[in-house]
Amino acid sequence: MTFDHDTLTLLDEALRSLERGFGRLPDAQPRLDREAVRGAILAAAERMRDNYPYQHPLYVGQMLKPPHPVARLAYALATYVNPNNHALDGGRASSAMEKEAVAQIAAMYGWRTHLGHLTSGGTMANFEALWIAREERPGAAVAASAQAHYTHSRLSAVLGMPFRKVAVDARGRMDVAALEQALADGGVGTVVATLGTTAAGTVDPLPEIVALRERHAFRLHVDAAYGGYFTLAYNLDTDARRAFDRIGEADSIVIDPHKHGLQPYGCGCVLFREPVVGRHYRHDSPYTYFTSSDLHLGEISLECSRAGAAAVALWTTMRMLPLERGGEFARGLEAGRDAALSLHAALAADARFAPIFPPQLDIVVWAVRAESASASSAHARAIFDAAAERDLHLALATFPRAMLAVAAPVDDWDRDDIMCLRACVMKPEHREWMADILERLDDAAQSVLGTAPRDGSRS
Ligand SMILES: Cc1ncc(COP(=O)(O)O)c(C=O)c1O
Repeated sequence: MTFDHDTLTLLDEALRSLERGFGRLPDAQPRLDREAVRGAILAAAERMRDNYPYQHPLYVGQMLKPPHPVARLAYALATYVNPNNHALDGGRASSAMEKEAVAQIAAMYGWRTHLGHLTSGGTMANFEALWIAREERPGAAVAASAQAHYTHSRLSAVLGMPFRKVAVDARGRMDVAALEQALADGGVGTVVATLGTTAAGTVDPLPEIVALRERHAFRLHVDAAYGGYFTLAYNLDTDARRAFDRIGEADSIVIDPHKHGLQPYGCGCVLFREPVVGRHYRHDSPYTYFTSSDLHLGEISLECSRAGAAAVALWTTMRMLPLERGGEFARGLEAGRDAALSLHAALAADARFAPIFPPQLDIVVWAVRAESASASSAHARAIFDAAAERDLHLALATFPRAMLAVAAPVDDWDRDDIMCLRACVMKPEHREWMADILERLDDAAQSVLGTAPRDGSRS
């Protein structure tokens, strides 16, 4: 069993409590044909079986993490009122909860004042950050690394901003010399630093990037959609720690509670250090803001209707699991990171595999050793399929030769990149499940390569 059936009775208890808040109203029970509801929901349950088991620790494929049970319950609870956080008129309590939750995220980066709100996800959050950057630096370009999320070049195009792709070093981090050259060439108004790249979980060297602001006056946006919560973890490597310690110096930050914050989709978050950028959001809405002169979130967000339920789920989760170093939430992140380090160690000791570099967060990438780049890529795909047959769900990702130079998995570079195997070990349970994961991976690799791991690679 992988679902938390037991907590469902708590939903009923919470619903009854919520209902008491409206006890004065005349009865208005919806008239439901229970059998029709039953038929439809069971049909949906059956359809939903056609999924990879994202919620299970044997799923280490895409960047997916199950919501915390309390987040699921709170989300479901809120849908009975179905608040809309566009305006206080549409979601009074949930707007207040959103402001509190967002302030706690800002405080995690040391910001006592900020402007910010939740979004439907990381793309929309980055969109707003780049849009504000455009308004602040009209006509100037955006620079982001070759390993930044593809959304940055695409959003720049949508916003009509020139885009400069900055080279990465052998470990997939923004190459500071290449950035300096791009800044010296002129025309760059905004630099995007990624703290936790999507493909390999690498962390751009933020202290060195911040230092460049002394000579070049650019806006700094940190895309920490995936990595942002890791600032709470004690077991980061030195470079990552140094970078996370400087996030507060950015002009804007994106972090996705629906990635590492234990939230259901869609819950992203954008934060600005200077509340004054709120002026760019100014608009007239003669029909939405009429019950209160307090700030309506729609006045500082591009999206209009937004799920108040997302804010309720986040607030509730943070009430139970505060964003504290050493707390239960931080320990969950640390467990995933431990899992990544032990997976990396096992792969490094296995003659069949070549991990591209030690993980900086909780994503591990490795190539299959072979005579040529094409053979290595073909083996990776075959192991990916064989692992899935053994209920171990990995991912595949292609990396350029420059990022594989240290791992040197092949002699013959008959193509300029290699398709690698990739695992996102994001669930706290991955630490305990690592032995099982390695066993299944070994079995899958043996079925493809016909060789056992080198002696001593497994305990
Ligand atoms: C670093 C980074 N930025 C932005 C995004 C886009 O976020 P979303 O998928 O929530 O729109 C992702 C998604 O994986 C990401 O990893």
